[in-house]
Amino acid sequence: MALTTHLLCAFSLGLLSYAQPEPSENYNSSDLLITCNKISAAISGASQVFFPPTPQYSLDIEHAILSSTQASACSVEPGSAEDVSVILRILGSTRTPFAVKGGGSSTNPGFSSTTGVQIAMTRLNETTVNSNSGTVDVGAGLNWDPVYQALEPTGVNVVGGQVPGVGVAGTTLGGGYSLLSSQYGLTVDNVAGFELVLPNGTVINVTSEDEDLWFGLRGGFNNFGIVTKFTFKSYPQSDVWGGARLYAENQLDAIKEALFKFQQQNDTKANVGLSLTYTSGQLLSTVVFFYDAPTPSGVFDDFLAVNATGGNILTTSFFAHFQSLGPQVSGAFSGGVAFGDTQTASVTQYSPDVFDAFVNLANFWGPRLYALDNTTALDLALEPFDKGLFSHGSGSAYPPDRSQAIFTSQLTVEWTNATLKETMAIALRNISNTIRAVALADGQDVSDAALYPNYALFGTPLEDMYGENVERLRKIRAAIDPEDVMGLTGGWKF
Ligand SMILES: Cc1cc2nc3c(=O)[nH]c(=O)nc-3n(C[C@H](O)[C@H](O)[C@H](O)COP(=O)(O)OP(=O)(O)OC[C@H]3O[C@@H](n4cnc5c(N)ncnc54)[C@H](O)[C@@H]3O)c2cc1C
Ligand SMILES: *[C@@H]1O[C@H](CO)[C@@H](O)[C@H](O)[C@H]1NC(C)=O
Ligand SMILES: *[C@@H]1O[C@H](CO)[C@@H](O)[C@H](O)[C@H]1NC(C)=O
Ligand SMILES: *[C@@H]1O[C@H](CO)[C@@H](O)[C@H](O)[C@H]1NC(C)=O
Ligand SMILES: *[C@@H]1O[C@H](CO)[C@@H](O)[C@H](O)[C@H]1NC(C)=O
Ligand SMILES: *[C@@H]1O[C@H](CO)[C@@H](O)[C@H](O)[C@H]1NC(C)=O
Ligand SMILES: *[C@@H]1O[C@H](CO)[C@@H](O)[C@H](O)[C@H]1NC(C)=O
Ligand SMILES: *[C@@H]1O[C@H](CO)[C@@H](O)[C@H](O)[C@H]1NC(C)=O
Ligand SMILES: *[C@@H]1O[C@H](CO)[C@@H](O)[C@H](O)[C@H]1NC(C)=O
Ligand SMILES: *[C@@H]1O[C@H](CO)[C@@H](O)[C@H](O)[C@H]1NC(C)=O
Repeated sequence: MALTTHLLCAFSLGLLSYAQPEPSENYNSSDLLITCNKISAAISGASQVFFPPTPQYSLDIEHAILSSTQASACSVEPGSAEDVSVILRILGSTRTPFAVKGGGSSTNPGFSSTTGVQIAMTRLNETTVNSNSGTVDVGAGLNWDPVYQALEPTGVNVVGGQVPGVGVAGTTLGGGYSLLSSQYGLTVDNVAGFELVLPNGTVINVTSEDEDLWFGLRGGFNNFGIVTKFTFKSYPQSDVWGGARLYAENQLDAIKEALFKFQQQNDTKANVGLSLTYTSGQLLSTVVFFYDAPTPSGVFDDFLAVNATGGNILTTSFFAHFQSLGPQVSGAFSGGVAFGDTQTASVTQYSPDVFDAFVNLANFWGPRLYALDNTTALDLALEPFDKGLFSHGSGSAYPPDRSQAIFTSQLTVEWTNATLKETMAIALRNISNTIRAVALADGQDVSDAALYPNYALFGTPLEDMYGENVERLRKIRAAIDPEDVMGLTGGWKF
């Protein structure tokens, strides 16, 4: 989590703004232009179509990382659910490939990018507090940053993403691990409703009364249509205590012990996220601390007793804490053009053996990948939560099994040499498989543990993420989308 944050920082500073998209696949460009013009003529004044090389088009196809940016024929920014409906009907009837982009954080090629028509949800950007129902409406084009910012003066908060620069839509439609998840569950457990444009263009509100769509949308991404608005449960939010501390490699044994003890306690207001980052030829560790009150209990004392090489912890607003996590990670990433992949591994506990395996893997792959491309940064993020993590919600596409908490780790690599794509995917798969083997040897019940679809590398089998839910999800998809309109867009497909 830390490393990619750093990259997103470089990105927002414009260092990557000249990144060129991948060469496009074969397509019939005149057909696409006809579709783009058809959309342009049909949508209302709230929406607009853009063509290359305009700045608005470039923003619309831009992603957090180069790997998932593609040159579409045009982009369209819908300004209403009705216009999303118009657009989807045209795309469906012309069988035009398209992509739906929320925050654009997916690193997997084609998940929110396309050589067809890029839908950029950016105009759906409102955050509205409904004090009567204790909920918050959030437009599907927002990142978490402006949501937390809008909520700061209201005294309430939602269960959203942990670091700046990530979209509400993908996080929520894939599961959602939050700083508040030990208290309130995943983001999907805190949705009160969706405004959804069905594949045939009908606009509906989905609540728990609609059993199948309610189940499918909570983890099933874009398989059932395009979400235009999320309604979240809200919670009172006080000032918080937190920040990041950096540790040198010789402190990692002490950190391992502190992390192990931290997982034995049950204070659900406490959260830590630990990154092992191999970059510029060395291994660094960053621990992000968070306590959902102005003063923490003693749960971090073992960590705080370990000498840090830097960092800053303070009591501040939730939004200020969240924002501080962007620039916290000092950096080796030099800007320019970056590729990136993420992958994941699931454990039930970051035991000493599992922790050692993460350190050994960072020290095995880090130098090897660095030797091939000295801009490479490998980041392994360990994300423990309370054991009751999955007890706050009901059946959903993800997670497929709520009987025990699974901790997902975000394995990230970034690099610039285009010839290394295959090598990087091999390395990430190796890290994931090795962690799984070590956890099994450690006696952890992870033989069927689901992989988190928001972190999983392209090519991951559906069964590994959705387990026994795959069959039901396929049935729901077939009933909702008999014409396979959503098959025209990428992502995990049922
Ligand atoms: C730096 C970083 C930090 C992260 N931190 C966290 C974290 O703290 N917790 C966590 O749970 N995850 C985290 N993630 C993973 C993140 O949740 C996923 O990358 C997520 O998919 C991003 O959502 P997005 O809207 O930005 O992505 P996008 O790439 O825009 O979309 C992802 C997928 O969702 C689909 N989609 C987007 N909008 C819609 C819509 N309106 N209707 C239907 N489908 C849609 C897209 O088509 C695509 O398939 C992090 C990722 C990064 C890069
Ligand atoms: C594109 O495909 C259509 C049929 O779908 C065809 O009529 C047209 O000639 C093609 N155009 C080009 C430039 O290939
Ligand atoms: C929403 O979009 C409008 C119009 O582009 C813009 O003025 C406003 O600043 C945006 N708000 C947010 C929170 O992004
Ligand atoms: C969805 O709910 C909102 C708020 O209750 C309402 O304004 C809107 O008309 C509903 N939309 C549909 C399609 O039922
Ligand atoms: C945490 O809860 C578990 C069971 O839920 C219990 O066995 C354990 O003693 C608790 N730990 C602390 C530190 O309270
Ligand atoms: C922390 O560093 C100080 C000074 O560098 C040293 O005296 C102390 O023993 C160190 N503590 C630990 C726990 O390593
Ligand atoms: C990284 O490699 C490039 C050549 O590919 C070289 O010019 C540069 O000096 C190297 N940087 C470092 C820090 O080793
Ligand atoms: C990219 O990597 C390949 C394969 O390792 C190597 O041959 C090539 O020189 C590298 N390119 C640059 C610009 O470093
Ligand atoms: C990971 O790669 C190493 C080095 O190539 C290899 O020895 C090991 O067997 C691989 N492990 C897995 C689980 O793939
Ligand atoms: C659109 O799909 C929904 C869900 O399958 C269905 O109920 C509705 O009748 C369809 N509408 C049209 C106009 O076909």
